[in-house]
Amino acid sequence: MKNLFKLKNLEVTEINDILDLAFECKTGKHDNSLQNKIVANLFFEPSTRTQYSFNTAQLKLGCKVITFNPSTSSLVKGESLYDTIKTFEAFGVNSLIIRHTQNEYYKQLSSINIPIINAGDGTLDHPTQSLLDLMTIKDNFKKFNGLKVVIIGDIIHSRVAHTNIEVMQRLGMDVVVSGPKEFAQDCYNYQDIDTAIVDADVIMLLRVQHERHSEHMAISNTEYNEKYGMNMKRVNSMKTNAIIMHPAPFNRNVEISDDVVECEKSRIFNQVNNGVFIRMAVLIRALGEK
Ligand code: CP
Repeated sequence: MKNLFKLKNLEVTEINDILDLAFECKTGKHDNSLQNKIVANLFFEPSTRTQYSFNTAQLKLGCKVITFNPSTSSLVKGESLYDTIKTFEAFGVNSLIIRHTQNEYYKQLSSINIPIINAGDGTLDHPTQSLLDLMTIKDNFKKFNGLKVVIIGDIIHSRVAHTNIEVMQRLGMDVVVSGPKEFAQDCYNYQDIDTAIVDADVIMLLRVQHERHSEHMAISNTEYNEKYGMNMKRVNSMKTNAIIMHPAPFNRNVEISDDVVECEKSRIFNQVNNGVFIRMAVLIRALGEK
C-alpha cells in the first residue's frame, strides 16, 4: 500500500519518480485520471497551502472530495483520532490526507487499510512540502548534486527543515543552516547569514513558529529582520542565478522584507504552484494509477 509518511522511507529513485510524475502532471497529462476515487482531507491543524493545494490537485484529477472539519465533528465529544480514521475507512473512502500536531500520529493507524498521505506531523515531517521544494529546485537548476542550500530561521521547530535537510543531503546537496543560534541544532553545519548566502544556490527562509515556542522570542521583529532576515541588501550579495524560497506562510518584514517576497530571485509562488502537481503525483502514486 502506497502510504506516504516521511521521505526517509523512500529511495532516491522513488523520489525522482514522483518528481517526474509531477512534471508530467504540470503538462496536463494526468488530468481527470482518478475520476472514481473518493478522498478525504483531515486537517487537525490549520493550513492554507497544503490543504487547498491537495484540494486543487484532487479536483484536477477528478476525485470526489470530503473535507473533514474537526470543530464540528465527534472529536469534540471525545472521539479519538484512531476511531475517526477507522470511521472514514468504513465509509469506503479510497485515500486519506492527514495533518496533525502529534509527531508520528500515523503510527497508531498501522491497521488502516487505505493509503494515508502525511500532510505534516508535529515538528517532524512534511513530505509533500519537501517534494515541492525539490521540484522547484529541479525546475531552476535541472540537477541537485553539488548545489549549496542555506536554510535560515527556526530550524528546531520546523518539520520542513528536518525533512528537507535529510533528503537534500541524500541528493548530494551541501546544506548549511543559519539564523538565531538558539533555533539551530548542533547536528547541522552552521554559518553566519552574511557568510552563508554569498555562495549559496538556494536560500530557504523559515517562519519563526511562535505557536511552537514555550517562551516569547527575546528580540523584536525589526531586530530579527536586521540580523537574520532577507532584505534587498542581502539579495544583492547573492549569486546571479541563486534563488530564494520559503514554504510560507511568511512574516513580512521579519524573516523576509516586503520587497523581497516577489523579487526576481524569489520562487515562493512557484513553490505554491508546484505544490499542486506534487500532490497530484502523490495521489496518483497512492491510488495505484499512473
Ligand atoms: N507550507 C505550508 O505547509 O503551509 P500551510 O500551513 O498553509 O499548509
